[in-house]
Amino acid sequence: MTPPQLLLLTSALLLSHTLFPFASATSNEAYPPTYGLDQPWTPPADDLVPVRREVYGGGRIIDISHRYHPDMPSWESPDGLGHFLWLAKSIKKGELANNSEMKLPTHTGTHVDAPGHVFDHYFDAGFDVDTLDLDVLNESSMVMHFLSMFQEKNITAEVMKTLNIPKGVRRVLFRTLNTDRGLMYKKAFDTSYVGFMKDGAQWLVDNTDIKLVGVDYLSVAAFDDLLPSHYVFLEGREIILVEGLKLDGAEAGIYSVHCLPLRLVGAEGSPIRCILIKP
Ligand SMILES: *[C@@H]1O[C@H](CO)[C@@H](O)[C@H](O)[C@H]1NC(C)=O
Ligand SMILES: *[C@@H]1O[C@H](CO)[C@@H](O)[C@H](O)[C@H]1NC(C)=O
Ligand SMILES: *[C@@H]1O[C@H](CO)[C@@H](O)[C@H](O)[C@H]1NC(C)=O
Repeated sequence: MTPPQLLLLTSALLLSHTLFPFASATSNEAYPPTYGLDQPWTPPADDLVPVRREVYGGGRIIDISHRYHPDMPSWESPDGLGHFLWLAKSIKKGELANNSEMKLPTHTGTHVDAPGHVFDHYFDAGFDVDTLDLDVLNESSMVMHFLSMFQEKNITAEVMKTLNIPKGVRRVLFRTLNTDRGLMYKKAFDTSYVGFMKDGAQWLVDNTDIKLVGVDYLSVAAFDDLLPSHYVFLEGREIILVEGLKLDGAEAGIYSVHCLPLRLVGAEGSPIRCILIKP
């Protein structure tokens, strides 16, 4: 059994040397992943071939968001997201410009959950994605992640305890078996993904200072504890959940994390663009 990997992100100000024994660099041969879109780039003769990147700035900026495309997984869909983008107006049809339109569930791909997602009274009160704290989502100080020795299990209280996440750590991205299984690259929704069981979520809330929880499949909660885990995380309206992250390209190390949701008034979820920046 290969232990799933855990990314732990925290403020550098709070880092102590005692954290570093956990840190372990790992490179991932499977990176970048194949979508059919990722071609090695060679300068074309007429330079009319767009470049699609996973990293920027010579590798300093790592994109940890997934591309939106019809074959990406979508909640409980056996056939993926499907057709969601079309050219409503086009130059070929005599319009002045090309104008695309899209229809997308707000919890698609790399996305964020607001408290109104599972609490009706929070939804009614307006706790939408526009109210999320950018100070938590856009951290200018350092961030780190490490590989954990926890077993191939869902994230229970027992698993959380063994991670020894120190107090003061405010942001954690969990890289799990989901990344190793490439679940975000599979069209069919898979209920066997790794996520938080209710007691794992409760342990995190009670025993850590974590305010940003990131995971590598469509839900932070294991399928069997879907609502209970979401309730535990979102009830206090302080913890922000970022789901569907692309963590295969990030090695253990120290980063800042920047995640920006759309300002969708009235929406309890939003696509989110997340990047890690190496120091
Ligand atoms: C979109 O616009 C470009 C010009 O900017 C044009 O060449 C292209 O044919 C247009 N696409 C469609 C489908 O009309
Ligand atoms: C987001 O992060 C950048 C880079 O660290 C920083 O300059 C900016 O002030 C931050 N924005 C907010 C709203 O915190
Ligand atoms: C995690 O829980 C799901 C059900 O929610 C289950 O199908 C899956 O096998 C579990 N994963 C592991 C690694 O135990």
